[in-house]
Amino acid sequence: MKIFKNIVKKILPASMYNLIRMKPRLMIVSASLKRKISYINKAAWQQDPDYRGDNSGALRKYGHMVDKGLQTFEREPGHSIVIALRLHELINLNKNNCESVAWAKEILSLHRDLQEGSLDSNSYSEFPLINSKAIGSEQLLTFLKERRTLRHFHHSMAPSIEDIYKILETTVWAPSSCNRQTIVNFFTMNDALVAECTKQNKGATAISGKHAFISVCYDTRSYHLPQESLTGMIDATLGFQNALLMVHSLGLGACVLNWSHSDVQENLRLRSLLDIPEYCEIAFNVIVGIPNGGAPTPGKKNKVEYIIER
Ligand SMILES: Cc1cc2nc3c(=O)[nH]c(=O)nc-3n(C[C@H](O)[C@H](O)[C@H](O)COP(=O)(O)O)c2cc1C
Repeated sequence: MKIFKNIVKKILPASMYNLIRMKPRLMIVSASLKRKISYINKAAWQQDPDYRGDNSGALRKYGHMVDKGLQTFEREPGHSIVIALRLHELINLNKNNCESVAWAKEILSLHRDLQEGSLDSNSYSEFPLINSKAIGSEQLLTFLKERRTLRHFHHSMAPSIEDIYKILETTVWAPSSCNRQTIVNFFTMNDALVAECTKQNKGATAISGKHAFISVCYDTRSYHLPQESLTGMIDATLGFQNALLMVHSLGLGACVLNWSHSDVQENLRLRSLLDIPEYCEIAFNVIVGIPNGGAPTPGKKNKVEYIIER
């Protein structure tokens, strides 16, 4: 099957091959859904569905695959050679010596040692379990339960830029698909720009006071399309939940703003205000400020509705 797939890929033009691969079906969809999928289709048809220029996301993805192979108990030379070659290419494409490249080089060098027989069975294995129990489960539950969505903020003071960085730095410490870490947070603390950005969100109601504005996006270029078109949403969301907890821990308040209701004009406007590139999809937006009071705890559904043992 794989051989057949590769032959077809060689014979057909890329756009034709990608179209067939998508197994297209005719269907009537709403205008808003059409807008959402048109970018996915455009990228999936016209470009390589696996790699569209995000060297950094792709580098971590291939590094992750090689890394997982090294971590298997049955590791032995001969596996993941093609993936390791691609990783080598991606390392060379990343001219800047960033942390991702340093990590990828280390993984590749371990893979090379394995091929050459110089990686003994004790190396890069039996990792110690790290759990300092710094936060007990009851403490954590209390912390999770007391976090609230806050919409009223201090009128003259805003969070410091250091706090915003501290909040956003947490967003790559969540699980991400293939360790791609595609989340990209575009933010502003400029009052006039914040006001204009917040205005684009239909859900930005019942809000008062000074706040920072963050557009939580994901770089779509390393997702295999169209199958992984929603994976970025998951990566961005898990990533930003860390940030929301850090907001609470710093004594600040935040409100997530829905972006699924945005129309064409709002989308274009926000993108141009924050200079968000086309390949970054906006997942949702968030405002962060210094709390001016709290908020009531919203009712929760019954455990039997969301915890179901089969
Ligand atoms: C995806 C998402 C979209 C949201 N959109 C909005 C919004 O547009 N406007 C708003 O005021 N709150 C919004 N919220 C906040 C929710 O209303 C809030 O999380 C919910 O009522 C529960 O309250 P809590 O966060 O205090 O537990 C959103 C939350 C999520 C997760």
